[in-house]
Amino acid sequence: MTRKHASLIGWGHYAPENVVTNADLEKIVDTSDEWIKSRSGIERRHFVSEDQATSDLSIEAGRRALEMSGVAPEDVDLVIVATSSPDYLTPPVSSQVQHGLGCVNAGAFAMMVGCTGFVYGLVTADQFIQTGAYKTILVVGAEVISKNLDMTDRTTCVLFGDGAGAVVLQATDAPCGVRSFELGSDGSQAEALIAPCPGTRNPVSQYAVDNRTHYLRMDGRAVFKFATRTMTESLQRVMGKAGVGVDDVDLFIPHQANARIIEYAAKTLALPPEKVVMNVADYGNTSAATIPIALSEALTAGRAEAGDTLALVGFGAGLTWAACLFDLGPLVGTARASHEATEATSGDGATVDSVIDDRGVVDGLIA
Ligand code: UT7
Repeated sequence: MTRKHASLIGWGHYAPENVVTNADLEKIVDTSDEWIKSRSGIERRHFVSEDQATSDLSIEAGRRALEMSGVAPEDVDLVIVATSSPDYLTPPVSSQVQHGLGCVNAGAFAMMVGCTGFVYGLVTADQFIQTGAYKTILVVGAEVISKNLDMTDRTTCVLFGDGAGAVVLQATDAPCGVRSFELGSDGSQAEALIAPCPGTRNPVSQYAVDNRTHYLRMDGRAVFKFATRTMTESLQRVMGKAGVGVDDVDLFIPHQANARIIEYAAKTLALPPEKVVMNVADYGNTSAATIPIALSEALTAGRAEAGDTLALVGFGAGLTWAACLFDLGPLVGTARASHEATEATSGDGATVDSVIDDRGVVDGLIA
């Protein structure tokens, strides 16, 4: 069988309408716009409304990507959803996304690899296409982190946001797709970024809830140290595997957790700023969604074209990391020319108070 290649033929992203600014957060936790901006680069993030869940965001991003690609939902062979915040522990959110999009002939599975999930998903999809097993695959990275945030914990609640991004990959004979990759994991640091409950180690109980174990906890300094090291080293290794240097890569799309981490990697690898995508100011850390959102925005803005080489790199819970070099195939230009560019839904200026009110927890925080 001739080896096939994965061409990226559609992309899209979606962020919920509620925009929460740093000033909004100043009203509910002991923090400041100055601290958040200087330590993380984040200025605002999107939070879902009470009735929105991860499948809703995934379906909207997936719909936009499919629309751009011109692929009918029934022609999708596989749906992969990377997320750590599924609608339910079971069933897998991927089936809700598959059903919601009308991908009636597709298999579907979810990948839970923290913020690294989208790159794991992209590399997995590329393998299915290379073997000839599948022709058309939708890969989604989506999160609703806000519902797992302890809004009394300033060390986490100011950093995260909600959103989704998606790409459509299709088999082609033209050389493109993943050129080299690295998937990594260091489970010895599991506690550094963890939501202990619910799960089989900590099932839901009054004790678990009273001790707020259902919220995300993070040892920020440990993750920061891990991130700065793995981001630069894994990028160097995937470039080495492909036999290319920084000059041969057209666009770097790193996980958007902290502007300082991205700037450190850019400086260490001597990456020109115009080749590095950074949108953390507008979305915060949307975990598995940061890379597909950044990718979608960058492609929509024309920052990469057919034939260009992208470097994607992520890190996060596990702790895990993943990097890959991805060559854009010939259809990228066609997709852009023949379909309207997708755009993130801009915020309507809803305040954090209204968002928190919707969830019925603000009274407890302010009292
Ligand atoms: O997606 C992957 C997961 N996440 C990450 O990649 C995050 C990686 N880590 C980071 O981005 C950074 O470590 C943070 C942004 C989380 C924190 O920045 P930092 O420069 O490492 O700050 P720090 O944790 O060392 O805290 C410095 C001070 C502390 O006060 P003391 O002990 O020096 O008195 C914190 O209590 O800042 C305090 N602090 C805050 N102050 C105002 C922590 N959070 C806040 C806050 N507002 N929101």
